[in-house]
Amino acid sequence: MRAVDIIMKKRDGQVLQREELAFIIKGYVDGEIPDYQISALLMAIFFKGMNFDETAALTELMLKSGSVMNLSGIQGPFVDKHSTGGVGDKLSLILAPMAAASGAKIPMMSGRALGHTGGTLDKLESIPGYTVQLDEQRFRDYIQKDNMAMTGQTSSIVPADKKLYALRDVTATVESVPLITASILSKKVAEGADALVFDVKCGPGAFMKTFEDAERLANSLVKTGQVMGKKVVAVITDMTEPLGRKVGNWFEIEETMEALQGKGPADVMEVTDRLTAWMLVASGVCKTLDEALLQCRKVIADGSAWQYFLRNVATQGGDVSSLDTLNGSCRAACVRELKAPSAGYIQSVDAYKIGLAGVYLGVGRNKTTDPVFADVGFIFEKIKGDQVKAGDCVAKVYAREEAALDAAWSLVEASLSVGPDKPESKSLILKEITAL
Ligand code: URA
Repeated sequence: MRAVDIIMKKRDGQVLQREELAFIIKGYVDGEIPDYQISALLMAIFFKGMNFDETAALTELMLKSGSVMNLSGIQGPFVDKHSTGGVGDKLSLILAPMAAASGAKIPMMSGRALGHTGGTLDKLESIPGYTVQLDEQRFRDYIQKDNMAMTGQTSSIVPADKKLYALRDVTATVESVPLITASILSKKVAEGADALVFDVKCGPGAFMKTFEDAERLANSLVKTGQVMGKKVVAVITDMTEPLGRKVGNWFEIEETMEALQGKGPADVMEVTDRLTAWMLVASGVCKTLDEALLQCRKVIADGSAWQYFLRNVATQGGDVSSLDTLNGSCRAACVRELKAPSAGYIQSVDAYKIGLAGVYLGVGRNKTTDPVFADVGFIFEKIKGDQVKAGDCVAKVYAREEAALDAAWSLVEASLSVGPDKPESKSLILKEITAL
């Protein structure tokens, strides 16, 4: 078999056989097929696509390129949620303890901030002492003890994706539904969950900008996940505005604590409850979505989800007392107010622009090696639909240096639009696709 023939076949729009994909994945991981040939193949896939069987075969071959988390010996059910990434998206931090308090087991492997989207690991690391580098033994032990553990990906999980994703990133081939499906799903299946809930974000602040693209990805994740033997739900959610009122690594820990204590913003709780409820249904903890939604309210009202969060922080080395001492005080020295330019109603705060501005502040990063900071970001005093007078403070923006605020400021200002009419308030849940 020759790589060039496989590239030619895909270039001409033909379907690749499993053996051909296996040859490519093995050859690439072993270093026998060079980057330039894989780049050409990725671009051919980008333009010609892959049918469902090819996508499923690619996912499985990528999964088998590395090790799979062994959760045997621990009583399930294991369920996880994956988000395609957003701005102010702290939902994993809230829903993991909610699902854990309801009796599900959550083996959660998360990512870091990249580009305009935030990362769960960076948020967790803003809690002093909290470690996200768990080896397999500790990951297992913590899940057994606390029903949940939060970690980064180990180096042995899906090595094919590490190489392929890095190459896609520099060859403009990230935005391909079959490639995204295989990348996300191979990693999620490797972490050992029986059931998966995908939050496929859609809109300017998301990876998928249009509903049609989000729907194509959601369908692909659900169908492919089903073939891999998983119970799968995809929820397409709106990511036009930042989620909640706080955007920033530590700031989002604060909003997580508020949510777990029953004081979460309505938009955050709408999506969190829905995703958690699907996790409980997909894992069999609850029989119906209505029952699961009631269960979500119960674990917030009785404080049990909050207790699971505190337990997880302590177990993973976090300083629980810092949750109090940093609350409201972990703020970088430089602060500037975003003011309403005119009187009216806030029509929109553009999540994408806020996410990009956050990179200048040190909320997110351009390159995986860039540092991020705990004490920077945005605290919104007004959000979409709120009435403002000219000059009212809409958000406080925190940075470590004035120069960072200067660099971010044109984006921050451009993110805000104010108009005369109150905008219609809409549900953030756009569509749900289930395979249970
Ligand atoms: N996230 C991933 O893990 N992989 C992709 O291909 C895109 C987003």
